Amino acid sequence: MAQQSQDVVELILDDHRRMEELFRRMRSVEDDRAGALREFSALLIAHGEAEEDAVYPALKRYKHIDDEEVEHGSEEHTEGNEALLALLEVKEVGSDEWDEKLEELVEAVTHHLDEEERTILNGARENVADDRRAELGAAFLRAREEYLKDDCGSVENVRKVIEKA
Ligand SMILES: [Fe+2]
Ligand SMILES: [Fe+2]
Repeated sequence: MAQQSQDVVELILDDHRRMEELFRRMRSVEDDRAGALREFSALLIAHGEAEEDAVYPALKRYKHIDDEEVEHGSEEHTEGNEALLALLEVKEVGSDEWDEKLEELVEAVTHHLDEEERTILNGARENVADDRRAELGAAFLRAREEYLKDDCGSVENVRKVIEKA
């Protein structure tokens, strides 16, 4: 059971689907959009930072996983984080400006999730052995948990993450 559930590729895909679910909630006027944004913000930062700490460097060591694709993945994280910050800085949730920034965020993140799945994650599935994928999955979860504990989705922290990129 542990092996299956800790496969780093599956864990990352689970987060991606959760992000898409949160986009649907943020777009829905009947929903708690501010709450969905808070959850999304923490998830996006914890997920991306954990990928960069625990997963991307390990994948770069594989000959058949393209280093440039991995580096491009980090650049796209920054683009997503910048779009997130722009939305977090809008004062009124649900205003026209908020909707506009939300759509820019959805576009940036959806683009990254799609590209990451087609390049980096497919590369990992094809080239990384099951037991190594399970080890990376455990490391990914540990890093992700640490970020979530530290309120990583706050405006201040999102700003910091962008500055250090
Ligand atoms: Fe991801
Ligand atoms: Fe990513």
